[in-house]
Amino acid sequence: MNKTKIGIGFIGFGTVGQGVWKHLQSQREELEERLGVSISFPKIAVRDLKRERGVSVPAETLTLDPMEVVNHPDVNIVCELMGGTTKAKDYTLAALKLGKVVVSANKALIYEFGREIFDAVKEFGGHYYFEASVAGGIPIIKTLREGLVANRFASIAGIINGTCNYILSRMEAEGKSYEEILQDAKKLGYVEADDRLDLDGWDAFHKAVILAFLAHGKWVSERDALVEGIRNVTLEDMHRARDFGYRIKLLGMIRRNFKTGALSLGVYPALIPLDKTLARVDGVYNAIKLSGDVAGTTILIGRGAGQDATSSAVISDIVDAMIGIRDNAHKFLTPSDIDACYRLGESARMATMDEIRSKFYLRISILDEPGTLVGFYSVLAKHGVSVARVVTYEHQGERRGTITLATYPTSEAIMERVVDELKQLPEILTAPLVLRIYEPTRE
Ligand code: NAP
Ligand code: HSE
Repeated sequence: MNKTKIGIGFIGFGTVGQGVWKHLQSQREELEERLGVSISFPKIAVRDLKRERGVSVPAETLTLDPMEVVNHPDVNIVCELMGGTTKAKDYTLAALKLGKVVVSANKALIYEFGREIFDAVKEFGGHYYFEASVAGGIPIIKTLREGLVANRFASIAGIINGTCNYILSRMEAEGKSYEEILQDAKKLGYVEADDRLDLDGWDAFHKAVILAFLAHGKWVSERDALVEGIRNVTLEDMHRARDFGYRIKLLGMIRRNFKTGALSLGVYPALIPLDKTLARVDGVYNAIKLSGDVAGTTILIGRGAGQDATSSAVISDIVDAMIGIRDNAHKFLTPSDIDACYRLGESARMATMDEIRSKFYLRISILDEPGTLVGFYSVLAKHGVSVARVVTYEHQGERRGTITLATYPTSEAIMERVVDELKQLPEILTAPLVLRIYEPTRE
């Protein structure tokens, strides 16, 4: 039997690139036999030819010029694993314009230029696969597109940043600061080249935007979303949250009201009830809870970052791409697929801040003197915010106290006004910390 020849090129050969190479090498014969293809690795682009790598590749394969990968006549699949958005976009579009298949793990790129990339797919006939862009080894893109395609999702809630979950879990278990644990996360290959993307919630936001596009057909922009990272979460908050019956996790939340069309997207540290599955997902593990109207609740849990988990997702895309090339028929990201996504979005609009509701957790540092609580409670009462639980405690030798409380449900708009007014009170010593409390649908 004549085997289809497939050339796989890499742009970027760091944590993920080397992982993909390593596992493809060890599975090569099996894949070739199973798929009836013959695999080669003609070119690999890197930034530094002298860098020591965990795997060895033939020296003549390496290049400093990613366009050599794109233009190489034997490369049909370009794995864009370099990260960043400017150059990565140029190489991606160049490969798509040649009708090649691009496999990517680059969620920042898809957030920023997803529309252009998909337009290029439609115009030039290339293909774009991006399973590894969301939740590392969890096959969430395939799940949305294939396994749960019959569903509309009123809610998708996920722990979708491995670095933050690793940091928060270890902070709670070991009492260390996030800066200390971040160094370990870097050594383990979990952290983005720019660690602010992880710590400030942007990486999880990019992933949530991809999920929202696939589920609801809308590209959500930064200005339409709530995005907060984990820097302000203290060990003290974790202990208070536990006293209230919760754990704190960085959560990505996509909600859709199918009656009004309202779609909301947020990424923030949230208090999750202790008895819920999401509260028990620790370390680098991610979890995504999908509430579908046909299948009901589905929860996927797996490693969300790191070399092996991410390589697993990239290789699943490479295998799909190889089958697509072999059969001259790609399943993913065909023009009709893209159009179908956009059609989904026609009935969606972004929710207003009055429409987005939840319970809230507040931490307030307040002057410890008779009567100072009166002003505080008056602000809550004025805005109709009802308190479900409250704990006040003193700090030995200091004239300040801390109040932590959990509210009943109210809107984002109201909570913003409450916080603005609290900040004006002279007895409130620092800006209040506000976290959302996750209210799960039935599991
Ligand atoms: P990384 O370890 O920093 O590797 C980046 C690679 O790109 C390096 O090999 C670097 O070359 C190369 N590179 C950068 N700029 C280049 C340029 N201008 N020309 C040629 N090569 C260039 O990053 P990574 O962790 O593998 O991440 C790669 C992508 O996967 C990113 O989009 C990231 O968001 C995504 N991702 C990562 C993970 C994870 O757990 N690490 C998980 C999911 C998705 P040198 O080696 O010579 O410096
Ligand atoms: N930095 C990302 C994370 C990598 O920690 O989740 C996986 O996308």
